[in-house]
Amino acid sequence: MTTPVKKVPIHLQSSQNRLLIKNGKVVNEDGIFDADVFVEDGVIKELGRNLIIPGGTRTIDARGRYIMPGGIDPHTHFELQMMGARSVDDFYQGTKAALAGGTTSVIDFVIPQQDEGLLEAYERYRMTADEKVCCDYALHVAVTKWDAKTREEMATLVQEHGVNSFKFFMAYRDVFMLRDPELIEAFKVCKSLGAVAMVHAENGDIIYENTKKLLAAGVTGPEGHEMSRPEEVEAEAVNRACIIANQVSCPLYVVHVMSRSAADALSDARARGVCVWGETLAAALGTDGTTYQHKCWRHAAGHVLSPPLRPDPDTPEALMKKLVVDGLQVTGSDNCTFNADQKALGKDDFSKIPNGVNGVEDRMSVVWEKGVHAGLMDPSRFVAVTSTNAARIFNLYPRKGVVAVGSDADIVVWDPSRKRIISAETHHQAVDFNIFEGMEVHGVAEYVIVGGRVCVDECQIKAVHGFGKYLETLPYPAYVYDAVEEHEKQPRGVARSEADAKRQHEEDLALT
Ligand code: URP
Ligand code: ZN
Ligand code: ZN
Ligand code: ZN
Repeated sequence: MTTPVKKVPIHLQSSQNRLLIKNGKVVNEDGIFDADVFVEDGVIKELGRNLIIPGGTRTIDARGRYIMPGGIDPHTHFELQMMGARSVDDFYQGTKAALAGGTTSVIDFVIPQQDEGLLEAYERYRMTADEKVCCDYALHVAVTKWDAKTREEMATLVQEHGVNSFKFFMAYRDVFMLRDPELIEAFKVCKSLGAVAMVHAENGDIIYENTKKLLAAGVTGPEGHEMSRPEEVEAEAVNRACIIANQVSCPLYVVHVMSRSAADALSDARARGVCVWGETLAAALGTDGTTYQHKCWRHAAGHVLSPPLRPDPDTPEALMKKLVVDGLQVTGSDNCTFNADQKALGKDDFSKIPNGVNGVEDRMSVVWEKGVHAGLMDPSRFVAVTSTNAARIFNLYPRKGVVAVGSDADIVVWDPSRKRIISAETHHQAVDFNIFEGMEVHGVAEYVIVGGRVCVDECQIKAVHGFGKYLETLPYPAYVYDAVEEHEKQPRGVARSEADAKRQHEEDLALT
């Protein structure tokens, strides 16, 4: 249930329109430097030391802290109706929790209900989210069936509604899944619109077969979830999606890469020049699939998401290392939370357990802990994988994803020396469970600023219902489409000159 909230009148919201963040180290994706940050009217106005600042400006002392772009979580599902349940974090509590953890923008997925058009579903999400969000948000749209109307609606969404990304499911057969010929057409449409195609990459037909077999053999518990969709089932779909996208020159973003072999398939494709970007999840970095063996059913079911966590306990570190070397580029949360009574829908059949876990609040801390604190990742790469790369791919950069003059004042003041212990008892999310329960994390969002407003103040959350804005994402993100253009420019024919021909004839003669 949503907590009742009081709306803060607009005149009070804008009373503090100037802010100086002093003595900290600014971390951007391309480096770290000492600078104070002056914010006015929601935008970063000046960066440097010894700035001349108007009287009455609030000052935050960031000595010993990092000043970083606010996190961008490109993968949330707030109040999503799925598998007979509705995810419990709504757009208010979900975005409030995001802020608590240092995330200042989220991108949620419009997922149409059966018989609902894309535009209708989009309008429904806007009606729900606009008045609730505490931080800025944008929308991807999921395409769950393929027909002429869908094609037209995709164009309208891009041209009139600020949507530049569409998700296609290769799993959830008979519900959301598209087949290869449909994917080919859909990717062509994305390319023609300047959009980014996103895939949920798992082989839905194999999962269907495996699920039947396992249930018939009496495997009904949450462990059956992973057994029905082992990692090669994910890797095959990643590889297939990369090949289809490459053949029609469509840029591709693979959401929730959860296994080593899927990450390898993606980074191998990148090495071949395929225009593909990969996202992994806080869940995949912070926990693993040994949890499906847990003797407590609720605990095991609490970790059920798709693709699943992997039983190999080295997977989290392997995925982190992929992020470090740019084999993967983005971290999301895939926050899609269900309470115990909702998970219990699958008590006797793992295939009916609503899929999803938490992460929107803890993503930044988990990536910092397992990446930076563990000594695998530097703070600049942390910024890249938690904020900048998502901003670039979905065309929000440089408005978002960087601490720079002219950018939105979406800032997190991060204390790397402070620690906290993650727990469902203390988190800000609506869900009754936390997959990171008991994990000690170094790195805490001490101040979180959205559009110049201090929404987390000395670790105290001061979120405002409805304060966030809808972000229009425009087509043809340069970061993505420049890569596509470059890839298309590569010569395809054989370059021949008279000199080459002569040299070749001489070589052929020498061989005979
Ligand atoms: O298990 C998951 N990932 N739930 C949310 C829906 C999706 O496929 O992203
Ligand atoms: Zn998915
Ligand atoms: Zn338990
Ligand atoms: Zn998802």
